[in-house]
Amino acid sequence: MKPLSPKLLEISLFFLILCFTHVVAEQSRKTYIIHTDKTNMPKSFTDHLQWYDSSLKSVSDSASMLYTYSNVIHGYSTRLTAEEAEALEEQQGILSVIPELRYELHTTRTPEFLGLAGKSSPVFPTFETARDVIVGVLDTGVWPELKSFNDEELGPVPEKWKGECEVGKTFNSSSCNKKLIGARYFSKGYEGSIGPINETVESKSPRDDDGHGTHTSTTAAGSAVSDASLFGFASGTARGMATKARVAIYKVCWLSGCFGSDILAAMDKAVQDGVDIMSLSLGGGVSEYYTDTIAIGAFSAMTHGILISCSAGNGGPSSSSLSNVAPWITTVGAGTLDREFPVSVALGDGKKYSGVSLYNGKTISNSMVPIVYAANVSNSSSGNLCLSGTLIPSKVAGKIVVCDRGGSGRVRKGLVVKEAGGVGMILANTEIYGEDLIADAHILPSSAVGEKTGDAIKKYIFTEANPTAAIGPGSTELGVQPSPVVAAFSSRGPNPITLAILKPDIIAPGVNILAGWTGAAAPTGLDEDKRRVNFNIISGTSMSCPHVSGLAALLKAAHPEWSPAAIRSALMTTAYSAYKNGKTIRDFATGQPATAFDYGAGHVDPVEALDPGLVYDTTVDDYLDFLCALRYTSNQIKRVTNRDFTCDSSKNYSLADFNYPSISVPLQSASGKKGGASVTSTLIYSRTLTNVGSPGTYKVAVVSQTKAVKISVDPASLSFSKKYEKKSYTVTFTASSMQSGTASFASLVWSDEKHTVSSPIAFTWT
Ligand SMILES: *[C@@H]1O[C@H](CO)[C@@H](O)[C@H](O)[C@H]1NC(C)=O
Ligand SMILES: *[C@@H]1O[C@H](CO)[C@@H](O)[C@H](O)[C@H]1NC(C)=O
Ligand SMILES: *[C@@H]1O[C@H](CO)[C@@H](O)[C@H](O)[C@H]1NC(C)=O
Ligand SMILES: *[C@@H]1O[C@H](CO)[C@@H](O)[C@H](O)[C@H]1NC(C)=O
Ligand SMILES: *[C@@H]1O[C@H](CO)[C@@H](O)[C@H](O)[C@H]1NC(C)=O
Repeated sequence: MKPLSPKLLEISLFFLILCFTHVVAEQSRKTYIIHTDKTNMPKSFTDHLQWYDSSLKSVSDSASMLYTYSNVIHGYSTRLTAEEAEALEEQQGILSVIPELRYELHTTRTPEFLGLAGKSSPVFPTFETARDVIVGVLDTGVWPELKSFNDEELGPVPEKWKGECEVGKTFNSSSCNKKLIGARYFSKGYEGSIGPINETVESKSPRDDDGHGTHTSTTAAGSAVSDASLFGFASGTARGMATKARVAIYKVCWLSGCFGSDILAAMDKAVQDGVDIMSLSLGGGVSEYYTDTIAIGAFSAMTHGILISCSAGNGGPSSSSLSNVAPWITTVGAGTLDREFPVSVALGDGKKYSGVSLYNGKTISNSMVPIVYAANVSNSSSGNLCLSGTLIPSKVAGKIVVCDRGGSGRVRKGLVVKEAGGVGMILANTEIYGEDLIADAHILPSSAVGEKTGDAIKKYIFTEANPTAAIGPGSTELGVQPSPVVAAFSSRGPNPITLAILKPDIIAPGVNILAGWTGAAAPTGLDEDKRRVNFNIISGTSMSCPHVSGLAALLKAAHPEWSPAAIRSALMTTAYSAYKNGKTIRDFATGQPATAFDYGAGHVDPVEALDPGLVYDTTVDDYLDFLCALRYTSNQIKRVTNRDFTCDSSKNYSLADFNYPSISVPLQSASGKKGGASVTSTLIYSRTLTNVGSPGTYKVAVVSQTKAVKISVDPASLSFSKKYEKKSYTVTFTASSMQSGTASFASLVWSDEKHTVSSPIAFTWT
């Protein structure tokens, strides 16, 4: 090769350096959401877009706006360096400059189980007005060809709808219809962080390349499809909760994640388009509401009369693992159905155990094959987890491998076993998963077993010279009791941001849920899995959230005049926390009775929610008072609410007066106090009930698990003479001190014989 001339070298070096600085700047750039105070726009501007543009140019000559926001906030998003972001934040009229967060997805018997269809009575009536309700689903997009989006029974699109059917290479205007009335995609934030979308890998359109969004949207409002199943499992009619409601898709999640600037843009558009319900089965880190993009978007949406239903997260059973905890969001945890997919495991010593699986291929049930524990056939210190490349093929070939759950995807472990020559897998729960079982469409004969069974199988392997096992074929079992049980993965309270608000609000079915799926990915999501299905069975609070979104749509159809808070109150105060035999709903993680930190107000009961009798309504003013009670500054309040509001310094704002349908009472423990002397504190809470039923008299009853707190309600009886009449009451808690970290629970129930209006109470000593 000829040496470069000095001159050429100099030029190339110059370009190299130029290129290099550009790359460095681009790499150190992040997407920021710039929240502006439109009322405080510098006088020199007449147009806010001109102002945004000029203020952005003044800190960076290369940055351009990804989105401008005009409904849920005023502002825009753009990619900046930290220095540029700081300089921008100093400018007049800028409320905040928040780096965007990356969010993650919280991954046909449900209607019968909930009393929406089938033989169980009473049955939920059909509301033709559901045709006017629009459910917006922010997720991975949609597979529009599914029968679940059949629009035959639906009339014209509601007149209030202002949305669009955005097209792309893989999605055209005929993809939308009178069921799937709108579809949009938001990729600018994603592409800013990840790089341009590679269209051979994923669709730059509302099309779902993952399956999650198709599953959640069909769960919320899919049309009924008969003879649905996954490989024959869970066969029956698959239908969403609100079969007549309309669906609008906002694709905000892509194969490599969901980004805050895209999510906010979707919320901004959904408000403008005219959705009634927003369903978000995703979440990220929790933070104060004024830096929480979803909470900020949700606040404005709520002021437009939109109910926002979000997944609580899959961080359970650890405590305080919740996300999406703002009080204007309905936070949904997950429980099981009365349906399981059992698979038997037979050991060489004649013992039989049971696990679950959705594997449908050739089984190894007729002959015993050798069984090994992954940790014994691996060259890795975490060999028990069956992570890629850790199993030694010569020790695995022809055998069933016991893999411990955790560290990688459940179905991926099966792939690792198969690739190493294994013929079957036992997926064993470790302590944190307890007896919680999730069925998956494994790619080889498999059985997921609880911790106790897993330990018994391992013990057999360790003590037997030539251990062998067989795995039976799978089946669908209905009528499993007890059910529901709180899923081990469902995120738990107490509320990590505001202890005085009890979260989650409610639980709904989220384990082994059958719903629509994409044609672009396998039911396992593995690239190596070439199977394609119309329906898939998956689990997560991602699945429970759209159940509540769809049920909220039904309540909206039945009671178009109810506010989002009234709808949530109806769902919460009629939820149940005990089985028919009176025993408290159990927790899969412990096998013990669950608490309000696990299930909130309890499991949703839509038939009862239709006619709750009374509701705890909450107005925008109540939420403003709530923010004042949090001691937020005017600036922080504006960042959440987009409005100028100054708390009245002469007013005693208290979280105790916030009209929430559940009650959380933070109490002080004596520890740290002099001599540990017991202290008694008295707290007075107030609530206001609105009558949404017929006139009547309600009497209160309190049931408490603790003697440490005396509870009295005043008055003990409330008479309502007309619809929408409001009556207030106070609850006085006289609490002794308990050790820090102690929690206890009670419930407060108003009843007129016909309705029971229940509120859970949680006491926490800190
Ligand atoms: C676009 O529409 C036509 C006819 O309406 C349909 O046959 C075709 O499959 C659609 N294309 C895509 C990529 O969805
Ligand atoms: C897009 O993805 C395909 C398949 O993985 C790959 O072959 C191709 O090189 C990618 N294109 C770009 C521009 O990265
Ligand atoms: C297999 O692994 C278990 C637990 O890691 C260990 O107790 C046992 O001794 C191992 N057995 C053999 C044969 O290596
Ligand atoms: C472990 O074994 C696998 C399969 O033989 C091999 O691919 C991998 O490189 C090994 N890893 C180590 C750390 O030895
Ligand atoms: C506010 O609270 C203080 C102390 O708790 C009390 O003295 C005062 O009267 C209250 N003010 C109002 C307006 O309720």
